[in-house]
Amino acid sequence: MTQQPSMTSDADVRARVESLLTELTTPEKAGQLTQYFYLGFIRNEVADGAPSQPELVEAALTRGGVGSLLFLMDPAEINRLQRLTIEGNRLDIPALVGFDVIHGFRTIMPVPIAMAASWDPSIIEQGQAVAAREARSVGIHWAFAPMVDLARDPRWGRIIEGAGEDPYLASSVAAAQVRGFQGARLGSAERVVAGPKHFAGYGAALGGRDYDESNISDAELWNTYFPPFKAAIDAGAGTIMSAYMDLNGVPAAGNRWLLSDVLRDRLGFNGFVVSDAQAVHDLVTHHFAADLSDAAGRALHAGNDMEMTFADPAFDHLTAAVEDGRVSVETLDDAVRRVLAIKVRLGLFEEPYVDEDTAAEVLADPAHREVAKMAAQRSAVLLRNEGALLPLAVDQLNSIAVIGPLADSPRDTLGPWVFNYDLAETVTVLDGIKARVGDGVRVEFAPGVRPAQRRYPSMFDMWPDNSPVDPADFDDDDEVAKAVELAASSDVAVVVAGEWQNMIGEGASRCSLELPGRQLELIQAVVATGTPVVLLIMNGRPIDLRWPAEHVPAILDIWYPGTHGGHAVAALLFGDDSPGGKLPFSWPRTGGQVPIIYNHTRSHDPENQGRRYWDIESTPLFPFGYGLSYGRFRYHDLTLSSDSVSPDNTITVSATVTNSSGRAAEEVVQLYLHQRYGTSSRPVRELKGFERVAVEPGASVTVEFTVGPAERSYWSAATHDWVIDASVFDVWVGGDSTAGLQATFTVTPA
Ligand code: NOJ
Repeated sequence: MTQQPSMTSDADVRARVESLLTELTTPEKAGQLTQYFYLGFIRNEVADGAPSQPELVEAALTRGGVGSLLFLMDPAEINRLQRLTIEGNRLDIPALVGFDVIHGFRTIMPVPIAMAASWDPSIIEQGQAVAAREARSVGIHWAFAPMVDLARDPRWGRIIEGAGEDPYLASSVAAAQVRGFQGARLGSAERVVAGPKHFAGYGAALGGRDYDESNISDAELWNTYFPPFKAAIDAGAGTIMSAYMDLNGVPAAGNRWLLSDVLRDRLGFNGFVVSDAQAVHDLVTHHFAADLSDAAGRALHAGNDMEMTFADPAFDHLTAAVEDGRVSVETLDDAVRRVLAIKVRLGLFEEPYVDEDTAAEVLADPAHREVAKMAAQRSAVLLRNEGALLPLAVDQLNSIAVIGPLADSPRDTLGPWVFNYDLAETVTVLDGIKARVGDGVRVEFAPGVRPAQRRYPSMFDMWPDNSPVDPADFDDDDEVAKAVELAASSDVAVVVAGEWQNMIGEGASRCSLELPGRQLELIQAVVATGTPVVLLIMNGRPIDLRWPAEHVPAILDIWYPGTHGGHAVAALLFGDDSPGGKLPFSWPRTGGQVPIIYNHTRSHDPENQGRRYWDIESTPLFPFGYGLSYGRFRYHDLTLSSDSVSPDNTITVSATVTNSSGRAAEEVVQLYLHQRYGTSSRPVRELKGFERVAVEPGASVTVEFTVGPAERSYWSAATHDWVIDASVFDVWVGGDSTAGLQATFTVTPA
């Protein structure tokens, strides 16, 4: 068990940091600001005689040139490298060990976009606390997460790592994740430092193409893209990662306005900034810096404190940059202070090593699997349920056909951005259904179609099971026929379709949102049998579901549900629990509609659909905040504490939701706000409050929200500042962004 560091007062931390700083030489300081990948698995893959990447890193360790390491996950290996670090460092300064702990370490939680779909900050916090405990047990101190980039273009593969399109929801999710990773404070036992990323605007990549430039107006930056970072900073995040791309023509990693004026001065961040991998080198790639030395000086000056690199750090040039005056000693020292302060706060000097037996116990903890199962249950979104096909009554079924290659693929069940998982313990949808129904029901599986393949390789292909195996001797027509036959001879067909996990994530943008491969054809053939069909969607972004949304009676979005995903899905299918998740993005009908967001502004001829697109409706297939339930909810009694307030005042809004069904269920009660006129034109509605509540059968729950200056203030391009207008406001409360229960209030002039 990691001990609470003994020395945690701010004054103690400062004193320890200052005393170390006075002892450090300039190259040693640059070393503290350098973070190396340690790619042990490519040890042997280099030409004869040349040092391998790990050998280069170990050489740097022995000369005190490393402040941090990343991409390690084995406790024995981490202990070994930590020992080399300390022995190689004159002042015994340990390395901070970082890793992409994105949605679990050994126990894999649903992917981040799924966790956001739970609209449940408490399960999000618990999920990241489990991830933190597992990671810390093996010697990892720092997670490169949460990714708090707003994403409004689902072609961008990294939409899966975030919380969707809305700044209010994303801010709440960001804060919950930081609390989960870090605990009550930096240095809490069994927790890690959180690293919100990528500051800022990465999610607005042009055309959804990963790493491409973002051009974002100031109003959008302040109102949409910065708020989740602000929430993460207010929750105490210890580090921030800068972003890869050009923001409005200046690389984010070289952008002093962004990393210093905004991040530190305006948003109040006082931890340290790490660059993204090779992003300091990229300042040359961007045609921004002249060479690596120029890049190093400008990256540090802009506000990156640490460089993340594979080998050949640009920050090796910092000594020269200080000597020739391009970087001041004060700037260098401030960066080193911030890095050392985190090491001291975490107690690394007192306890740099971990106990391998304890790590094994922590990783095997069954309680962690329970959290993963609960998270998967809470994040699933019921998109359609015609004729109340769901939940299935197990005692009325003799046979279930489980169809689609994703139904029994452990690796895909986990989703992207995981490395230390255990496929043997991963519960697929097929496993989960079999376990839930027992021997009395015949459950048979037919893949129907072969796994679809990416056109270009994935950057994660170096991991053995990243890309799906194309089965030998697989006759597509035959297999579709077998699946159809199975469906025809079963009481119900559960079809799992979506994207293979290597089709989404970093470097996995798509121009189309269609179901890859022959999956739609398979669904159509199964539906044609007349057997009732439940479609489970495995995804991290919206998929073109126009055909299924008209022809398949039940559709449940299960995302990539994680280690115990199959158990969670079975619990929902058979009604042990009701789906209660809600969409964190507007679900487009087709890729040509993106980006499509609910909180757009209003302009000329708003009611005339045909003036938006003449070939398709301009509404999404499913709206933001949408999700059905086995309960039946009715909203009523919207009450305002006052119908007129002054700009500084707050009103209380309450509404009641009644569950008229015979089943207990949970509902996410959502509050939307709209300002009718003011300094800027304002979105048609904006989420400004939500609460996930449990409602017993026949019972009612009243939910209260506050709408004060914070909910009404916004950054206006007319004044280049924050404003709170006197105006008339509409408020809606309901179960999604089309909520109809409405009231009005006035904010009078001050
Ligand atoms: C690049 C990604 O953009 C970033 O999110 C990740 O944390 C680093 N690589 C480290 O793997």
